[in-house]
Amino acid sequence: MSAQIIDGKAVSQIMKEQLRQQVAALPSPPGLATVLVGDDPASQSYIRSKHKLCADVGMRSLHHQMSAGASQAEVEAVIVQLAADPGVHGILIQLPLPAHLDEECILSRVPLEKDVDGFHPVNVGRLAMKGRQPAFVPCTPAGCMRLLQHYKIPVSGARAVVVGRSNIVGLPMALLLNHADATVTLVHSRTKDMHEHLNRADIVVAAIGKANFIVGSQLKPGCCVIDVGINRTPNGLVGDVDFASAREVAAWITPVPGGVGPMTLVMLMENTLRAAQKSLLGRELQPGISG
Ligand code: GUN
Repeated sequence: MSAQIIDGKAVSQIMKEQLRQQVAALPSPPGLATVLVGDDPASQSYIRSKHKLCADVGMRSLHHQMSAGASQAEVEAVIVQLAADPGVHGILIQLPLPAHLDEECILSRVPLEKDVDGFHPVNVGRLAMKGRQPAFVPCTPAGCMRLLQHYKIPVSGARAVVVGRSNIVGLPMALLLNHADATVTLVHSRTKDMHEHLNRADIVVAAIGKANFIVGSQLKPGCCVIDVGINRTPNGLVGDVDFASAREVAAWITPVPGGVGPMTLVMLMENTLRAAQKSLLGRELQPGISG
C-alpha cells in the first residue's frame, strides 16, 4: 500500500483564498501582534512566516521584539498595551519564553477575546471540559483536525494515539480528538511499550520532536499518520515519522514539510479573522472551528 498524501499546503491555499475574501469584507483590516522575547532563530523564523502570511491575506501585523533578559514586568507591560489597542485583534506570545519568566502569568495577561493562540489558562480549561466553548482552539491541533475533516478520515470511535504531551500540541490535540469521539491515548517519553499503543492506533499524531522517531513497522496497516514534527537534520527538514517506511503501511500521511506546518499558520489567520469579526461586527461570520 502507498498512503494518500495529506496535502496541507493545498488545503491551506484554499483556506487562504477564503480568508482573503472575508478580510476584504471587513470595514478595517484585522491586526495581529506578536511578541518574541529573545532571539531564538527558529522562533524568529516562525514569526517571520506569520507576518508574511498576514500581509498575504490582507491583515495588519506588528511585532514586539524584546531582549532575552526582559523582565516579567516589562513583558506584561507590553501585553497590557497591546490589550488596550483597538487595532490589535489578536496577540501571540511566541513560546517558549526564557526560563526566568512566568509563562502562566504572561499568558493570563492576554485578554480572552484576543487570545488567538488559545493558551490563556481559562481558555485551556474550557477546551478540556465537556460542553464548554473555548474562545479559540490552539492553531496546530486545530490545523490537524481540519486536515482530518478535509480528507474525511473517520475519527468518531477511532483509536487515536497522540505521541507527546506538550501544552502547545500534544495535550490540546488529545482533547480535540476526545471531543470528536475518538478513544484517545496520550503517550510520551516515559510510556512503556509504546509499540503496543502505536500498532493498535487508527490515527497517530506524532508531536514528540524527535526526527524519524516512529517507523512504518510500528504502525497499524491502513492507519492515518499526522506528523507535527519539524526537525532540522543534515538531510533537511524531517518529521517525527520516517516518511518512507510509514507511507508503505499507512492509508493517509502528512509530509514534512507541506503537511501540518502550513495549516498551523493559516489557523492562526482564521483565529485572528474571527477575533476581528467579533470586535468589528459584533459577530463571527466564520463557523466555530475544529471539533
Ligand atoms: N512555539 C511553537 N509553536 C507555537 C505556537 O503555535 N504558538 C506560540 N505562541 N508559540 C509556539
